[in-house]
Amino acid sequence: MTANFHRTLLQRATQPYRSAGLFAWKFAKGKLKGDPAFVGLLEHGLIPDAERLIDLGCGQGLLAAWLLEARALHESGHWPAHWPAAPKVKNVWGLELMPKDVARARAALGDRARFELGNICTADFGKADVVIILDVLHYIDYAAQEDVLRRIRAALPTGGTFITRIGDAAGGLPFKFSNWVDRTVFFIRGHRVNRIYCRTQNEWLEVLKRTGFVAEAMPMHKGTPFCNVMLVAKAI
Ligand SMILES: C[S@@+](CC[C@H](N)C(=O)[O-])C[C@H]1O[C@@H](n2cnc3c(N)ncnc32)[C@H](O)[C@@H]1O
Repeated sequence: MTANFHRTLLQRATQPYRSAGLFAWKFAKGKLKGDPAFVGLLEHGLIPDAERLIDLGCGQGLLAAWLLEARALHESGHWPAHWPAAPKVKNVWGLELMPKDVARARAALGDRARFELGNICTADFGKADVVIILDVLHYIDYAAQEDVLRRIRAALPTGGTFITRIGDAAGGLPFKFSNWVDRTVFFIRGHRVNRIYCRTQNEWLEVLKRTGFVAEAMPMHKGTPFCNVMLVAKAI
């Protein structure tokens, strides 16, 4: 990706967070710039067009902001020639446990996306074409993870897309380091830091298989010292 294009997308996706306060704006800038997941989702064309995309554990709604601006840039003809088209997503619904994050997401994006306060372990997901969970599943216990995956499968049509990023528990030191960073940021954002529930990449692939998906793993930690993997799954 050209540096210019990245700067433009970054600037446009973070701009709305100015109205959500200094912390929200700075956090958006740091995360969208430094986390390779956001560029990775676009440059690999992982997200198909969708009538309804749901983002579980959406934080302050950064994925929605990113996708909305990506599509707007694509439609205006400002798009890297070698990338697949930006996904056309009609409705984004984000679900998040932390009231402050929901407030920031709403302040930034207004009615361009819908954000609700809720727990992914109990919320009704309704129906969706695409479900995304970035760096959330390890906060809920193993049985709850499996239950969430089954409910996501029920929300999707056959062939629907589920994408989640996880830390590979077989990843040695980079995995331990990413856990330490994750727990520190989680604490700073006002959460109690309890036990986390990690699995190896292969264990995740097994769980996805028994909950009704066929999945592929794609490293998603370029330029960071972490050991993160994007699991790209289709409902079968
Ligand atoms: C590491 S952050 C990732 C945020 C967002 N997915 C992103 O990539 O910007 C994890 C988020 O998951 C949320 N979370 C954790 N457990 C949750 C649950 N049971 N239900 C809903 N959200 C949850 C946290 O409040 C936090 O905002």
